[in-house]
Amino acid sequence: MKYIIKHAPELVTCAGGPKAGKSMSDVGIIHDGAIVIEEGRIVFVGTTQELEKSYPNSEGYEEVDASHSAVLPGFVDSHTHFLFGGYRADEFGWRLKGDSYMSIMERGGGIASSVTATRNASFEELYEAGKKRLDRLASYGVTTVEGKSGYGLDKETEIRQLEVMKQLNKNHPLDIATTFLGPHAVPSAFKGRDREFLDYLIQEVMPEVREKDLAEFADIFTEEGVFTVEDSIYYLEAAKKMGFKLKAHVDEIVDTSGAAMAAQVGCVSADHLLAASNEGLKQMIEKGCVATLLPATAFCLGKPYARAREMIDFGCVVAMATDYNPGSCHTCSIPLMFSLACIYMHMTVEEAVTALTINGAAAICRQDSVGSIEVGKKADLVFLEQPSIQFLPYCTGMNIVERVMKDGEFISLASPYSR
Ligand code: NIG
Ligand code: FE
Repeated sequence: MKYIIKHAPELVTCAGGPKAGKSMSDVGIIHDGAIVIEEGRIVFVGTTQELEKSYPNSEGYEEVDASHSAVLPGFVDSHTHFLFGGYRADEFGWRLKGDSYMSIMERGGGIASSVTATRNASFEELYEAGKKRLDRLASYGVTTVEGKSGYGLDKETEIRQLEVMKQLNKNHPLDIATTFLGPHAVPSAFKGRDREFLDYLIQEVMPEVREKDLAEFADIFTEEGVFTVEDSIYYLEAAKKMGFKLKAHVDEIVDTSGAAMAAQVGCVSADHLLAASNEGLKQMIEKGCVATLLPATAFCLGKPYARAREMIDFGCVVAMATDYNPGSCHTCSIPLMFSLACIYMHMTVEEAVTALTINGAAAICRQDSVGSIEVGKKADLVFLEQPSIQFLPYCTGMNIVERVMKDGEFISLASPYSR
């Protein structure tokens, strides 16, 4: 189908490439905006007046009147662990009573508990759960999502997680960028032998991941009590040699100089950064490493938020993502993220939009195909039920996404759990 979209009061293009620092405020709004879509791609962007000059005859096009909708690029959720077996509602309850995320992990719960449940889940069970979660993400306007392995910690389950995501990527309208996160925790079979576990991943698991083309990125959880900076460099350098692009979870709970490590080793993004130092941020700016902030995780853990305002003022390329996972952050609510970013992290609405679109795309190396409304890009669009992006944080925790277009077609936003 070919579409002409007209009269968007705010056509929020986010054009002009990933944005650092102050330029994150520039979201390229066109008032009374219009878009033409052919074969899943954007072929025209401008005002409705310009459109009428360039396309005087709309025969063969489906016309869409967007006069009540702000239209934005589809959101790019560049950091999730959306594929997992089981849930950890019990741990959430323990945390509400004062237990901490790390102490639960040290007692053998946390990630290890999701590992057991994921090892016990079949391909079909993971596929069905994953499909519903992608439907939910789509209902919030997400059109591209990154998904990590890391709940297997053994060859069979890590590969199964990635294969499920590959299959979902084929069958579900959303695009999935996959990441190998074997070093998400040290499994009990390797307790106290962190390096040996990394060697097992590097020698036994990653070659097969590469061979079957199951993941584009390699990631690691660099944290006090999980993997050290030295271990992280060892693993990431090996992953780089094998052709993976790199990411790292760093400075989430404690500042271990993870941000600087990620920048030096050449990570595309360093994620979390709640406790990152100024020196770490400086190195990230120098090396062009995207700072991916995950406000819903800080919210769910009751931790102070990452210093988004300072990061933007320093000149970082800030992206924002849900971190959807069964433990530290069991939500993929984009509406919640807008409110947290604007109210507690002091980002402007425009900066939050940039962080969830073009900068999110940059965090998964998709900036040339998604993340903005520009000629040649995929027609991945979000239509709001309100005329302006100012409604995004204001409609606190409420979903105001009315329609979503993916690859040039409107997708069904039926509630995934009602079927
Ligand atoms: O990004 N930090 C490490 N990994 C996840 C949490 C995973 C879990 O608790 O299951 C995160 O927050
Ligand atoms: Fe994460």
